Amino acid sequence: MARSEVHGAGERVRVRPDLAGRGGYRAGEIVPGSIKLSSNESGHPPLPGVLEAVRAASAEANRYPDNHATVLRAALAERWAVTSDDVIIGCGSSLLCQELVQATCEPGDAVAFGWRSFEAYRLYARTAHARAITVPNTPDGRLDLPALAAACANAEQVGVVFLCSPNNPTGAVITDDELTGFLDAVPRSVPVVVDEAYAEFATGVTPHAIDWYRAGWRNVVMLRTFSKAYGLAGLRVGYAIGAPELLGAVHAIRSPFNVSAVAQAAAIASLQAVDEMDKRVVAVAAGRLWVTERLRRLGLPVQDSEANFLWLPLGVHADEFAEHCRHEGVVVRSFPPDGARVTISVQADNERLVHVARSWRLSAGDRMSLQSSGAQQ
Ligand SMILES: Cc1ncc(COP(=O)(O)O)c(C=O)c1O
Repeated sequence: MARSEVHGAGERVRVRPDLAGRGGYRAGEIVPGSIKLSSNESGHPPLPGVLEAVRAASAEANRYPDNHATVLRAALAERWAVTSDDVIIGCGSSLLCQELVQATCEPGDAVAFGWRSFEAYRLYARTAHARAITVPNTPDGRLDLPALAAACANAEQVGVVFLCSPNNPTGAVITDDELTGFLDAVPRSVPVVVDEAYAEFATGVTPHAIDWYRAGWRNVVMLRTFSKAYGLAGLRVGYAIGAPELLGAVHAIRSPFNVSAVAQAAAIASLQAVDEMDKRVVAVAAGRLWVTERLRRLGLPVQDSEANFLWLPLGVHADEFAEHCRHEGVVVRSFPPDGARVTISVQADNERLVHVARSWRLSAGDRMSLQSSGAQQ
């Protein structure tokens, strides 16, 4: 039979009905020749020693990687004073989020998180036929943990909670008291994943979930990545620290060999470049302050941030601002109708961003109303 004569040709292929026609994760746009400030990557190349480690590891590309990432887990266990059994490595922390949802949620269970927060949490809920329960942030972009705890108490079955701190995209951190209050309010059996993808950039007092885990809160999981401060976004490696029984459930559903030997070697080498990493993080924090002050002087609303990005609650003007920047060769991320997020990068990129923002024409009236709409000045 000729291919064109196949019976039923042109019929739609069956997919899960709830996924038909749905879009996927909206990644930061890549515009050749432009400065990319839309994905919160590091503006620096990999840390010293990393490219050599990558080269050496790639010489054995004919072999599968160590499925248990034994050396990297041991290095992280030492770094955080836990055992290797408390550590799991993932193909980016985002895949770990997905695997944690799959390992904790049955169909219909809830995945709870604040909103706005990391957009992918919603997508991961979908992978497990789970429901997303979202609770609006406070007007200054902070997670509303008492409200989130109340929403969890009212939900039938909560599979997992994600607390993102510093929160993407608002940059706000949770406090010690907020975390303790939240953990006191939810059952000790509910896994609470504290997504600390940007924690290295925080200069203020900010809790690290590992302290709660080590103090005996076995439902607390600390989630970290090498994509941001360590500058390895392209190699896809992150990790979680949490109860071995929970990590064991992740192993039970995960695809094998999903962290390459190259990524493992790069992460191990990155952990050894502490001084340079610290220097870069300090530079990002200084750049964050520098850009914040200048954008505010331009009359733009900018929320305080502890991450390598800033949140501009521009409301309905978010797309317009992003489009203006894009036109001027700087790609930022718009989250209509709430705001825009700009990554803090190396100083030349930061300067370009401020320069471009200066030429954005917004009426004086709109500027005033934005300033009074809850942004901290
Ligand atoms: C809050 C948060 N968590 C996790 C991730 C995932 O990072 P990766 O998968 O690169 O480790 C991101 C990436 O942007 C993020 O913003």
